[in-house]
Formats: sequence, structure tokens, C-alpha cells
Amino acid sequence: MFSLPNDVTIIEVGPRDGLQNEKKEVSTEQKLLFIKALQESGIKEMEITSFVSPKWVPQMADAADIVEHVQQQGRQFVLTPNEKGVTRAIEAGVKSVAVFVGVSNSFNLKNINKTTEQSMQELKPIINQLKQQGYFVRACISTAFYCPYEGEINVEDTLALCKEFASWGIDELSVADTIGMANPQESYSLFSYLMREIPNVLMTAHFHDTRKMGLANIYAALLAGVSRFDTSAGGLGGCPFAPGATGNVATEDVVNMLHTMGVQTGIDMNLLCKAVSIIEPSVSRPIETGMYTLYKMEQ
Ligand code: HMG
Ligand code: MG
Repeated sequence: MFSLPNDVTIIEVGPRDGLQNEKKEVSTEQKLLFIKALQESGIKEMEITSFVSPKWVPQMADAADIVEHVQQQGRQFVLTPNEKGVTRAIEAGVKSVAVFVGVSNSFNLKNINKTTEQSMQELKPIINQLKQQGYFVRACISTAFYCPYEGEINVEDTLALCKEFASWGIDELSVADTIGMANPQESYSLFSYLMREIPNVLMTAHFHDTRKMGLANIYAALLAGVSRFDTSAGGLGGCPFAPGATGNVATEDVVNMLHTMGVQTGIDMNLLCKAVSIIEPSVSRPIETGMYTLYKMEQ
């Protein structure tokens, strides 16, 4: 029998990753209702929005409003790649910041308009300052396995980027399969390696579910010792600058898998599916995840 943790932390990314690529305009009010319902279901950590260019990602233009109106409960992250975004986020009153960089240079150029090296140079003094001022900082590592432009990524490159962030004193690494191409063997192998090499930073896995390997990849990462997972209610999500990426692995299906294996999350399935039902009318894709489909059949 494999050994699994007793508890796992779910970091809900639906309000950010889930909605950033949404074609329909989702009102601030709808987003706030979604976030509140997610909090009520027991989610303690969440990416609630991102401070990025409203020209590049119009769906996140209301970031400051979102921060102002979300109730502080657990840890609320906002995502941002640069100094301007961090400044806006701090002015809005955030306590936890998530920065993001791609291992792949080509992806980083498409996503942030900078090389990976340029992004790191810009982020180093910012993170230093954030840490001195007591902020919680997480670094999201995109294209950790595969890149839509460069193909397979060398694990040593992923490790080097993660180690650089760790040397700056960040609190958490969220290591991402941006286009949902990794398989469970790769998940187990990369996360075992990262956890061994970087033991003192919280390690989180972020899987997109493009090829429906998200749950298997999470199970493999669990076996490698990971106990924090980014997931998205309703399986919403995708990066606008990563062609071929669909939504994150669905929170409700991950929670179900964990609960049925005796791993606790503190999340109430019924209330979680209720949160999905709140956002469903605002999104253009039908939501057909396993647990949400069952929930609707029972209503
Ligand atoms: P740029 O055009 O190169 O930036 O965009 P710039 O510095 O030349 O500035 C251009 C304009 O943007 C200026 O405004 C700046 O003030 C403004 P103007 O003078 O034209 O009116 N600007 C900003 N405005 C608001 N917030 C900011 C900001 N920075 C500059 N932070 C930029 C560079 C990074 C801004 C742009 O490329 C951008 O917004 N990219 C965001 C891309 C994005 O949001 N991607 C999705 C999130 S990452 C993701 O989903 C992956 C993840 O889930 C993990 C995984 O799955 O891999 C985390
Ligand atoms: Mg993502």
C-alpha cells in the first residue's frame, strides 16, 4: 500500500486561471459571488485575480475591485509578472503575491513579452523587498514539463529556475504543466526530484487537464510527496498565450478522488458544486466534470 498524506491543501485558481481566458464578459459581481461561494465550501487558499495588462487580459481588468471586496479568509493570492503589477497589488491591499515565469523562453516572450532571464532580473529586487516587508510570495513556474513552442523541457532547466527562486527566500513554488501534456511518470519523477533538491519551500503542483491526465498526475505527485494542488472549480481555465491549453484539473473531481482515498481537504462537496453552479451561467463552455454532472442529476 502506498503512503498518502492525511491532509491536502487545495489552492483554488478558478477565479483567476479559470476566468482569465473566458470569452464572455464576467461581471465583477458574478466573480465576487463565485469567490464567496468557494470560500463557503471550505477553500482556504485561492488565486482571486491577476494584476496584468488589461489590454492583454481584459477579463482581469477589475483586479483592484476584486481585492477590495473579497473577504479575507485564509490566503488570497493575486498573480502578477512585473513591478507595475506588484505595485498595483500592494496599493489594493494584498498580503500574498504570486509571480509567474516560464522555464521556456519562447513561452515567456509570448506571455509576458520578456525573456525568462529578463523576467528574473526584474523580479529579484521586487521579491527581495516583498520578503523584507513580510509578504507571502509564491512563484508559479510555467512550462515546467512541456512548452507549446519549444516542446519538451529539460528537467535541469526547471530545477535551476525553481532553485533560483528558492535562493531568494520565496515561500512556495507552484510548478505547472501549462498545456496538460505531462504523464504520471513524468509528474512523479519531476516532483520527486524537486522535493529532494528543494526541501525547504512549499511545493505545489498545477496541472491543466487538456489530455485528461490531471487526476493521474495529481496521484503521482501525491506519491512523490506533494500535498498542495492548484485546481479550478468546474475545470475552468487556460492561459491565453499557451495554445492548446484547456482548463485546470477540476477541484470537485480532485476533492472527490482525495476524499474517497481518506485524504482530507476540509472542503464540502455539495457547497463546492453550488459554487460551480453560480459561475456556470457566466461562462461560455458547458461544465461537464464528473462530480458536477452528478450534482446536477441529484438536483
Ligand atoms: P508589455 O506591453 O510588454 O508591457 O506587456 P509594457 O511594460 O510595455 O507596458 C505596456 C502597457 O501595459 C503600459 O500601459 C503599462 O503601464 C501597462 P500603457 O502605457 O500602454 O497604457 N502594464 C500594466 N498594466 C497593468 N498591470 C500590469 C502592467 N504592466 C504593464 N502588471 C505585460 C507586458 C506583462 C504587462 C503583458 O504581457 C501582460 O499583461 N501579460 C500577462 C499575461 C497573462 O496574464 N497570462 C496569464 C497568466 S500566467 C498563466 O496563466 C500560467 C499559470 O497559470 C501557470 C501555468 O499554467 O503555466 C500561472
Ligand atoms: Mg495555469
